[in-house]
Amino acid sequence: MILNPERYLVTSALPYANGPLHIGHLCGAYIPADIYVRFLRLMGKDVVYICGSDEHGAAITVRAKKEGITPQEIIDKYHHMFVEAFSKLGISFDIYHRTSADIHHETAKEFFLDLYRKGEFTEEESEQYFDEKAHQFLADRYIMGTCPKCGFDHAYGDQCEKCGSTLSPMELINPISTLTNEKPVLRKTTHWYLPLDKYEGWLREYILDGKLDGEEHHYPDTWKNHVIGQCKSWLDSGLQPRAMTRDLDWGVDVPIEIPGAEGKKLYVWMDAPIGYISATKQWALDHGKDWKPYWQDKDTALIHFIGKDNIVFHCLIFPAILKAKGDYNLPVNVPANQFMNLEGDKISTSRNWAVWVNEYLEDFAGREDELRYNMIKNMPELKDSEFTWKNFQDSNNNELVNNLANFVNRVFVLTQKFYKGQVPAFDEDATFEGVWETELGGFFETEMIGLHDDIQDLNEYLRSFDFRSALRTVMEISTKGNQLLQFNEPWKLQKEDPETVDVIMNLALQIVAALSVIIRPFMPFTSDKMRKMLNLPAIKENGELLELLEALSLGESLIEVGHQLNEPAHLFSKIDDDLIKQQKDKLGAVPVVQKTEEILQHAVADVQTEYVAKEQTHPSVKEPVSYEAFAKMDLRTAVILTAEKVEKADKLLKLTLDLGFETRTVVSGIAESFDPRDIIGQEVVVLLNLEPRKIRGIESNGMILMASGENGKMSFVSPQKAWKSGSIVS
Ligand code: MF3
Ligand code: ZN
Repeated sequence: MILNPERYLVTSALPYANGPLHIGHLCGAYIPADIYVRFLRLMGKDVVYICGSDEHGAAITVRAKKEGITPQEIIDKYHHMFVEAFSKLGISFDIYHRTSADIHHETAKEFFLDLYRKGEFTEEESEQYFDEKAHQFLADRYIMGTCPKCGFDHAYGDQCEKCGSTLSPMELINPISTLTNEKPVLRKTTHWYLPLDKYEGWLREYILDGKLDGEEHHYPDTWKNHVIGQCKSWLDSGLQPRAMTRDLDWGVDVPIEIPGAEGKKLYVWMDAPIGYISATKQWALDHGKDWKPYWQDKDTALIHFIGKDNIVFHCLIFPAILKAKGDYNLPVNVPANQFMNLEGDKISTSRNWAVWVNEYLEDFAGREDELRYNMIKNMPELKDSEFTWKNFQDSNNNELVNNLANFVNRVFVLTQKFYKGQVPAFDEDATFEGVWETELGGFFETEMIGLHDDIQDLNEYLRSFDFRSALRTVMEISTKGNQLLQFNEPWKLQKEDPETVDVIMNLALQIVAALSVIIRPFMPFTSDKMRKMLNLPAIKENGELLELLEALSLGESLIEVGHQLNEPAHLFSKIDDDLIKQQKDKLGAVPVVQKTEEILQHAVADVQTEYVAKEQTHPSVKEPVSYEAFAKMDLRTAVILTAEKVEKADKLLKLTLDLGFETRTVVSGIAESFDPRDIIGQEVVVLLNLEPRKIRGIESNGMILMASGENGKMSFVSPQKAWKSGSIVS
């Protein structure tokens, strides 16, 4: 049993590089793991946090076919998108790798070959569907037919998306190939199987009894019931041998050393989890370390963070593979999360019923911690949970703004006001105790109002993967801080009893300093902001929480008397109804799949029009003008200050422009292309010396340059860089 392991290897499920990330992914496998590793680092532990893109499997080739591009283009696109999204959200992987990397292919092949040589696989011939027109075997996802359970006629070879049943291609009624719409034929093919049935007894002991080789192995109290429950039901229904190879043209090759390997790839669930190992190898290479202790030393705790749809693979199949391989550690915990629903419905990619991470990051730039906060608060740790935009707004406005930001801000403002931003000194013996017992009516028992105990609780919650309770504990500390101020009203008390105020303010500052450390795993960006405001070194996640606990138990200050603070900044701000409404309106709007297809079609169409247009669609070039004539035009840059619709004129907007040296009114026929609210602040180019004209009774003094696109849509012409208003354009 590893209770206090020497090192940790923590993984988040490798996301399939076949579609964008949504909030369900985030709160399933990424945010929880990130909290956990940040916590471990704060406790001074040796931890490596591994992830990367899962770039094989039929889902990727299906997607590529659909979009008419290569699998490589698909994985590159999504891999880069993931890298950006995760980094913006502060998911602190030690490495974000990819399974298309050579080192992974090599590692996976070696692994497979070793198992093969040890005789861990059985070779079996079976009949599988083959598309004669496309000359290939059909992966489950390439076969469609009628579901034998519910009669839905668009069920896939592995699953019916209507009734949710797991299927095998053979069960489908009237199967057709989605590649050619032809009826597939059955052909014989040979594959290598992992005899999972052989591992049943061992798996029962490992998962259900928490024992390895007769010894207690898991963190005894931290496995989630639903994880064990799901495993139990798999085990109770009997494990079957599972094919570890596929007839596919995209993936890791079955090693050529194995007779009959040609044209075959590793099953994606054989290859992807090995991605954790190959990523660790790459990390070790990059940092001059040895990867082996992280996978093979018994004093390492391996922990997989995943969503519940991955439980069987991480708790039964991969452990069986590792067991067969020998000399590898097995996970000490697999803290899987359940699903997050969205506004009363299941998240669905095809119906665009999702909050897309990249869109959020664009629409709410600078509000990354706000999303993390809501994800943690509603994390589906033990049962499915729900995200609603209203709850997102409320949790931001009522908790982050009104509680946390408000507390921190009040402390800073008062410290500036009373002490010019310096931490006040106080006479402990004279006033300290009195303050708590008399003024606070015994509410705050100990000197540090129970901070040490609270943080011990927090520790315990984090250790046992109860991140919701951990976050609640942090927020309760902020609530206590607010109560401390509210109860004593230092802003009133200062006149009559400045000594007591010194104590209160010093203590409030200690709480802010503690918060800047303990919110770190949850809201890392806010932690950075707070440290800056406090004029304390940024948290490096190098044992700071351990130090904090030590300081508290010794009764030491977290922030010294006389320490000079920086100017405060607002940590959070309110989110208004408009923003929330816009987000809600997006739900279910345009299916994303369709959107990507449209973009691609446009791309193709653009190339085609470019080609055809030369002869047909471009208007003919106008008569020549002299340079002098051109030079007479006074073109300047400007910024739109206000924009409003002109009454009873569908096409017109009345704009005022900031030219740097003056403000002008211009009436512009662009109302069909823009919502006035969206263009305020837009940089434009304006022809200044166009003769003034009255349009609908408004004098227009200039004309904005526009580029016309398809269907009369307009876009602004503006300098590539933001120049000062009034800059000359020539
Ligand atoms: N790509 C899988 C999914 O998104 C997860 C793979 S996890 C790994 O469901 F262990 F295989 F890497
Ligand atoms: Zn069905």
